[in-house]
Amino acid sequence: AEKMTGRDFLTLFDYSPEEINQLLQAAKSYKENPETKKGVLAEKSLGMIFENASTRTRVSFEVGLTQMGGHALFLSPRDLQIGRGEPVKDTAQVLSRYLDAIMIRTNSHELVEEFAHYATVPVINALTDAYHPCQAVADLLTILEQKQTLQGLKLAYFGDGNNVAHSLLVAGAKMGMHVVLATPAEHKADQKIVARVKEIAKQTGAIIEETEDSHAAATDADVIYTDVWASMGFEEEQTSREQTLSAYQVNEELLASAKSDYMFLHCLPAHRGEEVTAEVIDGTHSYVYDQAENRLHAQQAILAALIG
Ligand code: CP
Ligand code: NVA
Repeated sequence: AEKMTGRDFLTLFDYSPEEINQLLQAAKSYKENPETKKGVLAEKSLGMIFENASTRTRVSFEVGLTQMGGHALFLSPRDLQIGRGEPVKDTAQVLSRYLDAIMIRTNSHELVEEFAHYATVPVINALTDAYHPCQAVADLLTILEQKQTLQGLKLAYFGDGNNVAHSLLVAGAKMGMHVVLATPAEHKADQKIVARVKEIAKQTGAIIEETEDSHAAATDADVIYTDVWASMGFEEEQTSREQTLSAYQVNEELLASAKSDYMFLHCLPAHRGEEVTAEVIDGTHSYVYDQAENRLHAQQAILAALIG
């Protein structure tokens, strides 16, 4: 595998299956032997620009880097000069002179790409409208912990064809999984991303499918995944989305056709009674808190690979 040092982490399209595997092994090893991460990122600094809210991403990056001997700074565009119109170019160049890496959460994926173009240190995508790659690595780690393998597993995703769905598609295609998206016609995944992912699947043996039929998607699934119906930036569509997406709710009735040892995942935050029932997310098949914890281990592996 190529060295990952110095690279951006904007989508998993840029990482080979071997590299993703390396990240997963490193994350697993940091989780099992926490003493091995001490000092790995001593004196490293990460800038974290959050244009949108966050609980998991912010805390797991900040604590994750602290545990490795480095320091993370929370930067709000409300306080940065970028919020008053300073160009992305200048912000990216200047911050690169102080920091070892920059993490950004914002709606526009193009903005993150522009930032990465001008930055001279690695830029990490911490969620855009298009992708959530850090989440996908944590998701793979969580599946691996329970199933010991990824290749050939059926992951069924229900609801909005959003950022999280896109990153699951890329991750699943790279790792040879069977990924099925069950979405209504109005909220399908980005078809350009689906086409790219299908090309990757030809090389890895992955199967990528889209359907409007929730029950077909759930049948014999190993992993059941859902996310909010109205992502950040789409809140004004909440009511109309409740109509179009209600048939894609993950509930016990849907799960009757899944494998008997299926696992339920959700990146969180969740809305009980909307995309998933309380019974399912709070039930014995749910691994959502392991999944949230795994953000920490996954991102420690990512940071070590990029700036270690
Ligand atoms: N899953 C996730 O990214 O959570 P936050 O929005 O809380 O960071
Ligand atoms: N799809 C959600 C994920 C939040 C972590 C959003 O973009 O709001």
